[in-house]
Parts: sequence; structure tokens; C-alpha cells
Amino acid sequence: MEIERARELGLCFGVRRAIRMLREAADKYGSIETLGPVAHNQQLVQGLAEAGIKPVEEVEQVQGKIVAITTHGVSPAVLSEIEARCIHIINTTCPIVRQAQNAAMELAEAEFDVVIFGEAEHPEVKGLLGWAEGRGIAALDVKQFVVSSLSLPEKWDNRHSLGIISQTTQGQPAFFQFVTQLIATLPSLTASQSPECSQELMWQSIKEVRVVNTLCQATQRRLEAAIELAQRSQLMIVVGGHDSANTKRLSEACLPIVETHLVEGVSEVDNSWLVGKQHIGITAGASTPDEIIEEVVVKLKSL
Ligand code: F3S
Repeated sequence: MEIERARELGLCFGVRRAIRMLREAADKYGSIETLGPVAHNQQLVQGLAEAGIKPVEEVEQVQGKIVAITTHGVSPAVLSEIEARCIHIINTTCPIVRQAQNAAMELAEAEFDVVIFGEAEHPEVKGLLGWAEGRGIAALDVKQFVVSSLSLPEKWDNRHSLGIISQTTQGQPAFFQFVTQLIATLPSLTASQSPECSQELMWQSIKEVRVVNTLCQATQRRLEAAIELAQRSQLMIVVGGHDSANTKRLSEACLPIVETHLVEGVSEVDNSWLVGKQHIGITAGASTPDEIIEEVVVKLKSL
């Protein structure tokens, strides 16, 4: 039986950088708190907690004087809230997320209305909405965009310039499809479809649509490598947190190609999956520690 790892898998440079910064800070200050979990991976969060790095949900819950912002980043309002409490900040916002925040801010400053292709409740998207200075909405499909743009007229009062960006960890094909469908839909958002909206709220007089590709290339490369390996394998094991968006996307990409299982750790591997399989592919989400991947590989080899 051959066990092959995807050519790119596991911890991305953004999460590795954040872990390094947090461990250095914990060594220096003893213990620190992070605003939300560092990543959606229980083992990783647990390992950091043992080193004195513990998550809190809100700024008001911070008890010490050192707080770390995670790779997902936060909105300017949250940053000000932390500063107002005179708490020292360790900012581990991933540089790729920082670029997306800058894109949102620059679009808003240029008076573009901003749509973010992403999950409205994801911490990164919440932060991006803040950087869009109240001019942003998040949507995962055109239907959601239409509903939000018609029901939130206070956000968009001119509707002649639209900027489109993405949550960094969304898949590239899905983002491009969203952009294409959205542009095709804009002219049809007419008063006749929504008589309660005044003509000024319509997009018919749109002058400019600006698309900024804010996708993370590390995520795209992991996705491509997983799909390529799935096409040559009889079984794919995806290692990562069940709550991790990028891990779930890896699993969803492999599933239509070959039998695929998402496991958070070695204890979730079921021996019966291996029956009759000669070639097993392994991939892992961007927040999965190396040792968890290794444990799964060792167990598979032992079976
Ligand atoms: Fe950054 Fe991409 Fe990782 S956005 S945190 S390098 S998945």
C-alpha cells in the first residue's frame, strides 16, 4: 500500500509565522491572551494553551495586559477598543489578510461600495467589513448579494461604483464564478423587480466595477495539489479541524473525485476505509500541525 502526501499541505506560512510570534511573546511575558482561537484546530489551540497562550472571545474578557490578534485580523474598531484599554498588542494578522484589508479600505476611500465574497460570520470577513468603513456587505452567492443590497440601502447610497474582493481562503473558481454572475446580474436589478426601492437604489447607472483578487495563493496551491492527488488515489484522507473552513474546502474538492474522509486526528481513522486500497492520498488544512499529519501517516503505514 502506498501512502502519498499532497505536494503542498498543512500549516501555511501565515499560521507558522503567527505561532512563532505567539511563542516568542509567551516566553517573554509569561502568558498572553488571543482574541479568538489562533486557528480552527483543537490540538493546535490546546498545545498553545499549555505554553500560556489562551483564547478569549471579546476584548472585555481580556484579563492581562498583552493581547494577540490572530491571523484573521480585526476591524479598526476592535483595534481602537484594545488600544483604549491600554493593552499591549501582538498583531499576527497574516500579511495576505492585511492586503485584503488594505484593498477594502482603499475601495471604500475611493467611494466604491464593497462586496466581499465570503462567510459573513467568519472572523476575517467581520474584520474586512470594518475596513470597508460601513460600505461593505458579505455574500457567498448572487442571491445573497441581491437581498442584502436591496435591504440595506443605508450602506450604499450612490451605487455607481462597485468593488469586489474575497475572503482570502475562498477557492479561486468559486470567486471567479461569483464575479461573473454578479456582473451579469447588476443591470437586471431594476425598480420593476423591487418597486419599494427608489430609482437611486438601483445599479443601472453603474460606472465602474473593480475586482481585486485578494485570494491567498497558499490556499489555492493546497487545493490544486489535493485535487491532483485525489485523481491518482483510491482514498483521500484530509487532516484538519472539523470547523476549519479551508480544511472543509479541501475535503469538498476531493469528495466528487474519490472516497474522502476528513479527520481531526489519528483516533478518527477507521481501519475499514483501507480495505482493498493500494494508493492513499493525504492532505491537510492550513492550520493542521505537522505532528498531527505525521501521526496519521504512521497509523496508516502500520495498518
Ligand atoms: Fe494567511 Fe493564507 Fe495562511 S491567508 S493565514 S497564508 S491560509
